[in-house]
Amino acid sequence: MRLDGKIAIVTGSGRGLGRSLAQAMAGAGAKVLVSDVEAEHANETVRSIRAAGGTAESCLADVTSGEQVRALVQHAVKVFGRLDVMVNNAGRSGLMPFLEMTEKDWDRVLDTNLRGTFLCCHAAATQMVRQGGCGKIINVTSAIGIKGAKSAAHYAASKGGVVALTRSLAAELAPHRIEVMAAGPGQTDTPMWRSMYTEEEQAQRIKAGQLRSPEEFTSLVLFLASEAGNGWSGEVIARGVYNPT
Ligand SMILES: NC(=O)c1ccc[n+]([C@@H]2O[C@H](COP(=O)([O-])OP(=O)(O)OC[C@H]3O[C@@H](n4cnc5c(N)ncnc54)[C@H](O)[C@@H]3O)[C@@H](O)[C@H]2O)c1
Repeated sequence: MRLDGKIAIVTGSGRGLGRSLAQAMAGAGAKVLVSDVEAEHANETVRSIRAAGGTAESCLADVTSGEQVRALVQHAVKVFGRLDVMVNNAGRSGLMPFLEMTEKDWDRVLDTNLRGTFLCCHAAATQMVRQGGCGKIINVTSAIGIKGAKSAAHYAASKGGVVALTRSLAAELAPHRIEVMAAGPGQTDTPMWRSMYTEEEQAQRIKAGQLRSPEEFTSLVLFLASEAGNGWSGEVIARGVYNPT
């Protein structure tokens, strides 16, 4: 599952799973453009990759802005020469009862998770076609986007949208030899996960064996991004679909 010589962007890689993904991809030989809205977090990810002997640069981009996303992809081309792998990981959550959900709450989550993924897929695919085709786009989804969850209607709708977007693009971009997959990590201990549950709820989930390690997810994404994972376009692999969350 090597990525030697490949150029990758990981959105939302200033912390959490995105940071683990950027580190793992750099460890597998990719040159990684680390991107986030938090400059210091992104720089810390870059420092950790360089300290381990990998190659990384950072570029701030809010995935809800088409202009910033297009500039992000162009930055990868400027510093590394091309784009081979786009990992659309940036996301936001927030549990709240549906009857208390405002339009603003809905828009905030849908804008980041679904519109942001659309913008990143569009900018990445445009560049990959410009290069003559070929490439991988991996969209981070969630089992909640397939089976739904209480108090997460906006999040479930956004991640379900990512699944439908992924399958549609897999069909449409196939003639350009661009593969598009969706991967869901299952519950993983990150700042997002901790913000969603009380300490007691976290302890219950850990006791029930529901918590996954970041490495389990990074190895899946490495597989999909590498040549070993060619031919999985359109597939959605989301941990936790068959287990209660
Ligand atoms: N942790 C879990 O249990 C879990 C489970 C299923 C799916 N996921 C998904 O995995 C992905 C990563 O989650 P995480 O747990 O690491 O979250 P996290 O909150 O710890 O990290 C998310 C990162 O995305 C960045 N980000 C947020 N909005 C952004 C924007 N508009 N533009 C650019 N960057 C932005 C944040 O600054 C942060 O660095 C998300 O898409 C999430 O929905 C996580």
